[in-house]
Amino acid sequence: MGIVHGRAGAGNVGRREILEAREYEIGEDGGNMLVLLNSNYEELSREAARIVAGAVRSKPNATLGLATGSTTVGMYKELVRLHQVEGLDFSRVVTFNLDEYLGLAPKHPQSFHCFMTENFFSHVNVAARNIHIPDGTIGGDYEEYCAAYERAIYEAGGIDVQILGIGRNGHIGFNEPTSSFGSRTRLKVLTSETIEDNRKFFGPGEEMPECAITMGIGTILEAKKILLLATGEAKAETVAEAIEGPITASVTASCLQLHPDVTFVIDEAAGARLKQRGYYRRVMEMTARFTPNRLS
Ligand code: F6R
Repeated sequence: MGIVHGRAGAGNVGRREILEAREYEIGEDGGNMLVLLNSNYEELSREAARIVAGAVRSKPNATLGLATGSTTVGMYKELVRLHQVEGLDFSRVVTFNLDEYLGLAPKHPQSFHCFMTENFFSHVNVAARNIHIPDGTIGGDYEEYCAAYERAIYEAGGIDVQILGIGRNGHIGFNEPTSSFGSRTRLKVLTSETIEDNRKFFGPGEEMPECAITMGIGTILEAKKILLLATGEAKAETVAEAIEGPITASVTASCLQLHPDVTFVIDEAAGARLKQRGYYRRVMEMTARFTPNRLS
């Protein structure tokens, strides 16, 4: 599984070289932010999968940045369906997951390794050598390990499409409030809110990890295209802050306002607190009319 179990050294690609080599590729439409309002979770899952599938069809060796979490389950289910029914081919696709809990072995049922195997990898034809998920059992030189993860993304040509969920506190990946917008893959301490939100997935008496390895905000912002998925009213406040609020490290998803090709794929409930809903619908209609490629 790629570098998952590896302990690759920092190698000879320096951080500055990485930063210089990764420049935004702005699309032909000049780059913009879109809000795709869907009527429900099923529709948003299909929309997200449709966009990912389109990226894989147009670039069969695309590099996908993947997220876990309950929001993404429907999208993976639809991608699996597209693979099984329509032959969507992932054989040349390369994947990098955003994060993993520190201390959880890949076989731990609550690990993000396990989530990815159960919801996606065991049902599609992504080559095992092309799968990268941070190793939660890494002990010792975290900085070296995280630098190697960054280097592997660079060597894969950067991320073409990055999938994100959003935490109730506005986190993307495990970039908790106050994370630096320049941050790279690193060890991150989870907030008590995130720990509480995820404790339900762990058995009674089972210890919930308090740290994770996560791609940084700087890593995420270098993806060529970003999709953020959000469902349900519990996310409505933070979605509104991310899209319409000030750009602030207190809501790390608000950094996406700086990205030239980001699409928020949300349902009505998650979009309920947006002030500009009518405007986003009109933008969608005009985009479909004038720059339909932006929607694929
Ligand atoms: C998971 C991740 C997190 C989740 C977020 C939302 O890889 O990076 O940012 O996307 O916590 O989780 P759900 O979808 O479970 O509400």
